[in-house]
Amino acid sequence: MIDISAEISGIHFNSCIYNASGPLDATLDELNNIGYSNACGILMKSCTILPREGNPEPRYKDIDGGSINSMGLPNMGYKYYLDIIPSLMKFNKPVIASIAGQNLDEYKQMIEAFNSSKVDILEINLSCPNIVGKPQIGYDFEMSEEIIKMCREVSKKPWGLKLPPYFDFVHFEQMASILNGSKPDFIVCINSIGNALFIDWEKEQVVIKPKGGFGGLGGKYIKPTALANVRKFYELLNKNIKIIGVGGIYTGVDAFEFILSGASLLQLGTSFAQEGPKVFQRVSEELKSVMIQKGYQNLQDFKGKLKVID
Ligand code: SIN
Repeated sequence: MIDISAEISGIHFNSCIYNASGPLDATLDELNNIGYSNACGILMKSCTILPREGNPEPRYKDIDGGSINSMGLPNMGYKYYLDIIPSLMKFNKPVIASIAGQNLDEYKQMIEAFNSSKVDILEINLSCPNIVGKPQIGYDFEMSEEIIKMCREVSKKPWGLKLPPYFDFVHFEQMASILNGSKPDFIVCINSIGNALFIDWEKEQVVIKPKGGFGGLGGKYIKPTALANVRKFYELLNKNIKIIGVGGIYTGVDAFEFILSGASLLQLGTSFAQEGPKVFQRVSEELKSVMIQKGYQNLQDFKGKLKVID
């Protein structure tokens, strides 16, 4: 029997594959679809204090090999997500809230509100690249540290941080030192790669409307960067901080590579947007097939055991 179950701070997941916060997770109907699927958890859309319409459309485009989006956090406001938690509990899988404040006080207010709910886990989003006029918090190490310290003090739930991609070893080291100090239960690597640009050459035009066409890049293009982030943080973080990998996971082999790099759980973003809820079962089954081929029984057999060339 191949076991792909996983765990975060005592919370059991019956597999290691669920949705990323982003596509198809903003309303109760969409979250029910995730509940009925083979996803091992239900992660809600990043919420803000007030409901948001998000950026003007078109704001998402599938492209060969991935996607570009500048959604701008369209969501129903955190009170909506608090209210629907009881109804999501019928699926008997962990329910995870994703919180995207505009400043420290907003993050605090939302964490306190979810503390008194039945939500299982909190994902704190420090990395949305699509809010006009607001830089990604995860690139501001001082502000990140303030927010992360506050999370450590305030959260009564297992909590973790969704980080932007980092590209320079100095930045990995700076963030890892903050994280090792404040001890989140997990990090999520990576959010989309911010401010990419796709062009429709025939129309001589950008493909999404917000920000002059600049948006977050997802899908196959970003897998190598996502793997690098998982791997580098696996090398630098205390081993009790789990890593959740996301970025370009379409197949069981992709999933295998993320776990080999050090991920404990995996999220599907663009592949879920493109294939719908059946993607969770397909990728889980494919991962099991790879494990059978390799003779592995569970994720611990190969987690983090990526070999380097001497
Ligand atoms: C968005 O709504 O703009 C995408 C979510 C994110 O990047 O965190």
